[in-house]
Amino acid sequence: MNDKEISAPSAAPGLAIDVRGLSRKFGAFLAVDNLSFSVKQGEIFGFLGANGAGKSTTIRMLCGLLKPTAGTALVGGVDVSSNPEGVKRAIGYMSQKFSLYELLTVDQNIEFFGGIYGLSGERLADRRKFVLEMAGLKGRETTLTRELPGGWRQRLALGCAILHEPRIVFLDEPTGGVDPLSRRRFWDLIGSLSRHGVTVLVTTHYLDEAEHCHRIAIIQAGRLAALGTATELKQVFSSRPIVEIHAAQPVQAMAILDRHAGVEKTGLFGTAVHAVLKDASADPAALAAALTAEGIDVNSIGAVSPSLEDVFLDVVERVGAA
Ligand SMILES: Nc1ncnc2c1ncn2[C@@H]1O[C@H](COP(=O)(O)OP(=O)(O)O)[C@@H](O)[C@H]1O
Ligand SMILES: [Mg+2]
Repeated sequence: MNDKEISAPSAAPGLAIDVRGLSRKFGAFLAVDNLSFSVKQGEIFGFLGANGAGKSTTIRMLCGLLKPTAGTALVGGVDVSSNPEGVKRAIGYMSQKFSLYELLTVDQNIEFFGGIYGLSGERLADRRKFVLEMAGLKGRETTLTRELPGGWRQRLALGCAILHEPRIVFLDEPTGGVDPLSRRRFWDLIGSLSRHGVTVLVTTHYLDEAEHCHRIAIIQAGRLAALGTATELKQVFSSRPIVEIHAAQPVQAMAILDRHAGVEKTGLFGTAVHAVLKDASADPAALAAALTAEGIDVNSIGAVSPSLEDVFLDVVERVGAA
């Protein structure tokens, strides 16, 4: 081993993304506030947060498109502040508004993005074939992009973002406004990238989708509010059971439950009410009795496992209250 190899590497081995104290101000407004986290190679890392939480701003910094105000981020071992061009070459990026050219055909978009990434000849032909197959776009090569259904456009956008076979891919709300079947198919593609060792950092506001991520970061007002696997995040409810109630008058049911001594808080999940209990001592049957006594028709009541939606609301409320 020579001296060069002994000197400290710039990123820990096995880490695709290493973020330390990353911040971004717009004027006096702190949009991203001292974020630190790391993402392993091949990991699917989910970014969850309300609109305006700072997800896109963070992604743009990690893609070398926006300068951090403070902190450092290494992406594929490359420093985003000192070498943004190096980062751009190493990554794939699908922006929140897909970057496809609507008036170009499928093939023309592939050629255009291939050109940006410096692909030509046999390599471009190979990659074109790969994208058409992956995205299920064979036979649609000459269709105008704006005439493709949303799910197809989204798969084409992903294909164009990975034409140059990047090892790290950033997807900013890739499934917004797309039907459930296409969303499912898109997550299958993300899973396949990950199995091939590609690191995927993806933002979504569909909490059910976040279950597909190996780990999830919840961002609230520019800050990291929680980080872990879905199972780990759900541990916030380990000593607080959640009871789900279906009742004819959910809003009135919530008001009654909120006054109940055993209930910490309630929330509406579709048409169901979730009551978070202060501890395991409150019995669903007692809650049902309290509701019935006040004239509420209870159709069903029982303990449920926490969903990521329960976790997200809980985390956001705690951070908001802090
Ligand atoms: N270029 C900009 N100039 C000023 N404010 C911005 C700019 N970009 C984003 N912001 C603000 O930063 C906050 C975070 O935005 P963003 O990162 O887009 O959030 P998210 O992607 O989580 O919805 C928002 O309040 C947004 O208005
Ligand atoms: Mg955004």
